[in-house]
Amino acid sequence: MPRPFRHRSRIYERCCTALRSPAPRTRLDITTHRRGANAMSLIQDAARVREHAHAPYSGFKVGAAIRSVEGRVHLGCNVENVAYPEGTCAEAGAIAAMIAAGDKRIAEVAVIADCPAPVPPCGGCRQKLAEFAAGDVVVTMATTAGARLQMTVAALLPGAFDPGFMVNADKGAP
Ligand code: THU
Repeated sequence: MPRPFRHRSRIYERCCTALRSPAPRTRLDITTHRRGANAMSLIQDAARVREHAHAPYSGFKVGAAIRSVEGRVHLGCNVENVAYPEGTCAEAGAIAAMIAAGDKRIAEVAVIADCPAPVPPCGGCRQKLAEFAAGDVVVTMATTAGARLQMTVAALLPGAFDPGFMVNADKGAP
């Protein structure tokens, strides 16, 4: 039996309580919670929400977690549909949760799936992420087996279409 430490810090005690308690897991059942910056915990959040994916057609479950600049974590999983093009990606779900919760900007992203290499966001999701993230925002791609790859939003979407290209648009056109 290991002897307990005599001088446990308050943070250490809190961590132990959190690990013993089912509370964090329960809290993940809602789409948003408050969390400090930590890429590892963001991957864990993405891994947990991945279990909720509705992917009966592809069999490929994806989970995504976004930490907003405002400091909350927003979760999404892929939700497929029998009319295949109507399915939505995990990243899109997490973005929708962030916007619905009232947060505006992305600070960090994690996405995870069971695949041979860390799952890259699809092209459409790269554009969706770029709408709400600065170019230097880090996207951590992961596999359920533990592989990790980090890239910035700018590196994932070089030559992005952005509002700068629309300066000549005729806003009043029908
Ligand atoms: N998928 C995502 O959720 N995110 C991605 O970035 C890659 C693809 C989903 C969509 C579909 O439900 C399944 O993975 C197979 O393409």
